[in-house]
Amino acid sequence: MSSRIPLAYGKKVLELFRNPKNLGKIENADAEAFAGSLACGDMIAIYLKIDEAGEKVIDAKFESYGCAANIAAASILTEMIKGKSLQEAWKISWKEVSDELGGLPSIKYHCGVLAVGALRRAIRAYYAAKPKPDWLPREFTQEEKHALEEEILMEILSRKAQKSSTSE
Ligand code: FES
Repeated sequence: MSSRIPLAYGKKVLELFRNPKNLGKIENADAEAFAGSLACGDMIAIYLKIDEAGEKVIDAKFESYGCAANIAAASILTEMIKGKSLQEAWKISWKEVSDELGGLPSIKYHCGVLAVGALRRAIRAYYAAKPKPDWLPREFTQEEKHALEEEILMEILSRKAQKSSTSE
């Protein structure tokens, strides 16, 4: 039975859920990436416009098919990275995003992790055909691993759901 107890979202989360900043797509983005899977509904895409000379984020937008926490996390994250260097943007953790939102309910931590995972993928995508800076880890960070694990899980669940619907 599903719980009907409302989630304890803070004021900031609700405000950004109702009026998200930076919602949309950047055409001709310098880097873009997504995390999550449409199969289950939790998916986020991040688009970046980068000033090549300074490697600064001059614009950032997002699209989200996630929940209120995911929309709020992506919205505040895109605000936080504008004007920052890619290295500074890379260092932002999901915990900082959660703090900036006034805290997320623990059951919603993954929504913030997914937003940071998508951003880090976008930064990696930016450097895909360029020399990698020293600060860019070769190994996946926790946030990127989390996004990957979630995608694998969603893929398995959606395959199972498809199988059971075709066998009915
Ligand atoms: S994005 Fe999955 S519950 Fe929020």
